[in-house]
Amino acid sequence: MLSWDELNVDETPSPSVVNNTLAAEQAADKESAQAAQQAAVARQEVELEATPVRAPKLDKPAAARVATVSAARVEAPVNPIAAALQAVAEIDTSEGLQELATAAERVTVDQKAMINCRADLNQLVPFKYEWAWQKYLDGCANHWMPQEVNMNADIALWKKPEGLTADERLIVKRSLGFFSTADSLVANNLVLAIYRLVTNPECRQYILRQAFEEAIHTHAYQYCIESLGMDEGEIFNMYHEVPAVARKASWGLKYTRELSDPTFTTGTTEHDQTLLKNLIAFYCCIEGIFFYCGFTQILSMGRRNKMTGTSEQFQYILRDESMHLNFGIDMINQIKLENPQLWNESMRAQATQMILEATQLEIEYARDTMPRGVLGMNAAMMEEYLQFIANRRLVQIGLKEMYPGAQNPFPWMSEIMDLRKEKNFFETRVTEYQTGGALTWE
Ligand SMILES: [Fe+2]
Ligand SMILES: [Fe+2]
Repeated sequence: MLSWDELNVDETPSPSVVNNTLAAEQAADKESAQAAQQAAVARQEVELEATPVRAPKLDKPAAARVATVSAARVEAPVNPIAAALQAVAEIDTSEGLQELATAAERVTVDQKAMINCRADLNQLVPFKYEWAWQKYLDGCANHWMPQEVNMNADIALWKKPEGLTADERLIVKRSLGFFSTADSLVANNLVLAIYRLVTNPECRQYILRQAFEEAIHTHAYQYCIESLGMDEGEIFNMYHEVPAVARKASWGLKYTRELSDPTFTTGTTEHDQTLLKNLIAFYCCIEGIFFYCGFTQILSMGRRNKMTGTSEQFQYILRDESMHLNFGIDMINQIKLENPQLWNESMRAQATQMILEATQLEIEYARDTMPRGVLGMNAAMMEEYLQFIANRRLVQIGLKEMYPGAQNPFPWMSEIMDLRKEKNFFETRVTEYQTGGALTWE
C-alpha cells in the first residue's frame, strides 16, 4: 500500500509539498501567492529536517504516477469548465474496442456465444438467448422485499418458552445460520467469478437480477434474525463453527477460488470445464440440493402454523431459487450444446460425482438438524427426498439417475416449488410491483 510517509523526497515531492503547493495556489487568489509559496517552502524545509528520509517503497511506475499527478496539479488550467470542454473534445471512441474482434460492427445473432465470445457484449439485441431474457423479465415481475412480511406472530412464538420444541428451535437456527452465509457465497460467485466469464448480454442481464435477488435473500435472513432477537454472532458464524454447515460452505467455496482469480480466463478445454464445474456446483448442487433440507423443514413448520412469517420469507426465496436453478441448468446445457467437446466422459463422471457429494453433505445436514422425528418428518425421509432431488438434477443436465426408484415423500414441496400453477398465490404482489413503481410527471 502506498504510504506518503515512505515517499522518497529525492524523487518525488512529499505530500506536504503537494498540500503546501495547493495552499499556495489558493493563497494566490488572495493576492499573496508569493508569500505563501515562501512560507510553504519554509515549512517543507522544517519538516524535512525533522523527518528522517527512508528508503522508498514505491515502485518506479507508482513514483512516476505520483510525480505526474503533482505536476498536473501545478500546471492545471485555471478554468475548470475549459478543462472539462477540452477533455470531452479529446474523447477517443476507439478506446477499448481493440479488445473486441468485431466491436466496430453491429452484432449479429450468429456471433453471440455463451462463453469465449469476442463480439461486443454491450449489445443486448438482437436476442439469441430468449430464455435468459424471459427469466430476467420473470424475475423482475416477482420482485418482493422482506419488510413486507409480517413477523409479529413469529416474534411472539419465538419468545414464548413453550412456543416451539428444542428440536424446532434447532431447525430455525440452523436454517438461518446456513442460508445467511450461503446466499452471500452464491452472490460472490456470481459477481466475482462467473459474470465476467459468461459472454452474452442476455445471460449477464439475468445474472445481475439474480445477484440482486441474492442480496434480498441475505436481507431476509438478517431481517428474521433481527426480528427474533437472535444472537447474530452465533448465527452468522455457523458456517465455520458448526461442522454440518461448515462442510457445505467449504465444498462450495473451493469451486469459486480459481475462477475469482482476476487472471483466470476461459478458452482452453481445461479452463472451460473449470467454469462448467463451477456452474454445476453453484446452480445444481448449492442452489439445487443444499437448500432443500432447510427449505423443506421451514416450510413444513409454516404448514403447521408455526413461524409463518419466516416460512413466508422462505417461500418467496424458494420461488426465486427455483428460477435460479432453472436458469443455471439452461446455461449449463447451452454451453454443452455449443461446446460438445467439454462434455466428455471424464467431465460427465466428475459432474455425477459432484452431485453425489452434494447429496451426501445434505443428508449429513439432515441428520444433524433432525436427531429424531420432528414436524412430521425425519432424517430417513429427508434422505430419500434428497436422492429423489439428486436424480432430477442428474437428468436435468443429461446424466443418468444414481438412486433408482427414489420417491418424493414430500409431494407438497413440489406444489410449492411449481408456483406457476398457483396463479393467484403471488398475483396481487406482482401486480403492485408492476404498476406501483410508475413515475408521474408533476
Ligand atoms: Fe438466494
Ligand atoms: Fe439463488
